[in-house]
Amino acid sequence: MKAIAVSDREAGVAGLSFTDLPHPEAASNDVVVRVHAASFIFNELEWPDTWTDRAGRDRTPSVPGHDLSGVVVELGYGTTGLSVGQRVFGLADWARNGSLAEYTAVEARNLAPLPIDIDHTVAAALPISGLTAWQGLFDHGHLTAGQTVLIHGVAGAVGSIAVQLAREVGARVIGTGRTADRDRAAALGVHTFLDLDTEKLEDAGEVDVVFDVIGGDILARSAALVRAGGTLVTHRRAAEDPAARRAGTLLPCRTRSRPARRPRRASTGWAAQTGGGRRAATRRSRRRIRSRQTHPRQDDPARSRRLTGRRPKQWP
Ligand SMILES: NC(=O)c1ccc[n+]([C@@H]2O[C@H](COP(=O)([O-])OP(=O)(O)OC[C@H]3O[C@@H](n4cnc5c(N)ncnc54)[C@H](OP(=O)(O)O)[C@@H]3O)[C@@H](O)[C@H]2O)c1
Repeated sequence: MKAIAVSDREAGVAGLSFTDLPHPEAASNDVVVRVHAASFIFNELEWPDTWTDRAGRDRTPSVPGHDLSGVVVELGYGTTGLSVGQRVFGLADWARNGSLAEYTAVEARNLAPLPIDIDHTVAAALPISGLTAWQGLFDHGHLTAGQTVLIHGVAGAVGSIAVQLAREVGARVIGTGRTADRDRAAALGVHTFLDLDTEKLEDAGEVDVVFDVIGGDILARSAALVRAGGTLVTHRRAAEDPAARRAGTLLPCRTRSRPARRPRRASTGWAAQTGGGRRAATRRSRRRIRSRQTHPRQDDPARSRRLTGRRPKQWP
C-alpha cells in the first residue's frame, strides 16, 4: 500500500516521504480501516511514540497521523462492535503506524461509527481536538448546564469545539480571541466575546470554569476570575509555561471543598479547583489543591469514556 512515512528523527517534516509499505495486519480486537481522510500534527514528529513501540524498540519506518476517518475492511480475531463496510472515525494508536496511509490497523475501541451525513474530511478533523475540548470541559472542569465558562482562543482548533460543546450542555459561554476572531466567535455561538487585543480580560467577571489554551499572562490573570468552588483547566504544558506550572497556586482560594475524584483515565491539561466560600476561608491554613497533568486519550471519540491513557501525575 501507499503511505507517508518517516525514518529520520532529525529531519522534521522534510523527512516525510511517500512510500510503499506492507498492508497492515489486524491484531486481536483490531480492525483494518481503509483511510478516506486523515489529520497530521507536525509536532507528532517530536513525540517519542512516533519512533518507538510500546516496548521502546525502534519502529521506523513509522507512519504518522492519528485522526482518521474511513471504512472498516477487515476484522481482527475477537473484534466486536464494528463490522466490515462500516464507516468509522477515531484515533490510531500513538505507538503504532498511523493514519497517513491507504490502510491502517486500529483497536476497534478507538473508533466510533460515522453517521452517513458527515464527510470523512470533517470527521478526520475532530478526534484529538474534540477529545481535548471534551475532557477539559467535562472530565476536569465538570461543566454543567447553567454555569458560566470562560473559553480562551475560541477561533482555534480546541477552543472552537469547546464553545460548541459548552453550548450543547446549556452553559453560558464567554469566549476570547483577537479582534479578527469576533465574527467567528459569534458564528460558533459564544454569548459574549472578549477581544484580548482591545478589551480587559477582567471585564469577564466571575466564572465557574476557565478553559485555557493560551497560557502565560492570560492564564495567570484568568485565575482571579474563577469563583469559589470553580475550576481552572489549562492545556498548556507545565514544562513549557511557568503559569501552567503554577496554575493551582494562582487561584484566589485553593482549599479543596470535597474529596478529589481520582481521574479514571488520562487526558489533556491541568485542572485546579478552588474551595467553596466560608469553608474555604476557615481552612485556608490547610490549603490543598486538586490538580493533575494528563495527556490526550485514545478511545471512542463520541463518548470519551473507555480510553486507554497514561497514568495521571499528581501535582505539585
Ligand atoms: N489541537 C489539539 O488537538 C490539541 C490537543 C492537545 C493540546 N493542545 C494544546 O492546546 C493549545 C491550543 O491548541 P490549538 O490547536 O487550539 O491552537 P490554535 O488553533 O492555534 O488556537 C489557539 C487560539 O488562541 C489564539 N490566541 C493565542 N494567543 C492569544 C492571545 N495572546 N490573545 C488572543 N488570542 C490568542 C490564537 O490566535 P492566533 O492564531 O491569532 O494566535 C488561536 O485562535 C496548545 O497549547 C496545544 O498544544 C491542542
